Amino acid sequence: MKIGSLIIENNTILAPLAGITNLPFRFIAKKGRCGLVCSEMISSNGLLFGAKKTLKMLESFPEEKPVSFQIFGSDPSVMAEAARIVESSGADILDINFGCSVKKIIKSGAGVVLMKDPVRTEAILKAVRKSIKIPLTIKMRTGWEKTGEDAVVTAKIAEACGADAVAVHPRTANQGFRGKADWSVISKVRESVSIPVIGNGDIIVAEDAVKMIDQTGCDAVMIGRSAIGNPWIFSQVGAIMEGRPVQPVSITRRFEAMKEYLKVTVEYLGEKQACFMMRSRLGWFVKGLVSSGRFRESIKQISSENEAEELMGKYFDFVCKKMEQTIPDPEIFEEAI
Ligand SMILES: Cc1cc2nc3c(=O)[nH]c(=O)nc-3n(C[C@H](O)[C@H](O)[C@H](O)COP(=O)(O)O)c2cc1C
Repeated sequence: MKIGSLIIENNTILAPLAGITNLPFRFIAKKGRCGLVCSEMISSNGLLFGAKKTLKMLESFPEEKPVSFQIFGSDPSVMAEAARIVESSGADILDINFGCSVKKIIKSGAGVVLMKDPVRTEAILKAVRKSIKIPLTIKMRTGWEKTGEDAVVTAKIAEACGADAVAVHPRTANQGFRGKADWSVISKVRESVSIPVIGNGDIIVAEDAVKMIDQTGCDAVMIGRSAIGNPWIFSQVGAIMEGRPVQPVSITRRFEAMKEYLKVTVEYLGEKQACFMMRSRLGWFVKGLVSSGRFRESIKQISSENEAEELMGKYFDFVCKKMEQTIPDPEIFEEAI
């Protein structure tokens, strides 16, 4: 598929997840055959202030490309300048957050509150479009009314201002993450604009992605929570689309992904910070495995890469013994990781 002039290898996209989709997470998702990875949301003000922590969020590896960076904010000129900074850092796509419903963000006039304000929405999009050459996308919610009218209006403004795609998470501003995502809103947006529409929300297993495309006509699917500790969901979606069966993920693949996630995180953040992060995050990958609770407990205090690797190795041996795993790794995952 294409977003603006950019060719995306397949139509699966990693959703932006604050505090989660940093460089190492995106790297692993990419290895799981994700077509396009997205950063967590980045403050436009933070970029302009040159905050060290914020600028660090713009780092990327060539292996994860193409990569989209998402910014949030409410001031058109600040957003335009922030977009320029993102573009010059080597981003392939600039995405604007029109969907965050966290109180602090709404109070600052950013995120989903913009969907109430078409004039500001237009001003931001025009200013940003003028300031960068790379493809521009937006990610929004249903808006404030259940009908999805806000989403249709915002998508039309985005298209008119030169945006190259819109992503829709069809929950209202007040819904947070409660209830079900209303995929009919994705269909409404699909019918109202000509640029690619990316559907998002409640893709739990790979089959749901194909259902979403069938039901809504969306051009690509964006997956968030179900990709946590499960980068294989992207290759599984690809398999279904190509008419191949979805293979279970082998234990070996899981542990290799964990090791790689640890290694890249150490490279990106340094050993101390990486180990602190891994104390909870390595546990994401062992969901459903025998005695996973014990493994999670064992990594709570890890303080070095070696220690983490040792504990993973021990747990791997234990799981293999318990499960007597004999199924060879499916070819698809051999290639993916
Ligand atoms: C922990 C967490 C952090 C999120 N951070 C962002 C963000 O930074 N930017 C954004 O546009 N959406 C963010 N979202 C929303 C997701 O991108 C996505 O729209 C939502 O989770 C629904 O998709 P899913 O059902 O596939 O998870 C976040 C969601 C979660 C759960």
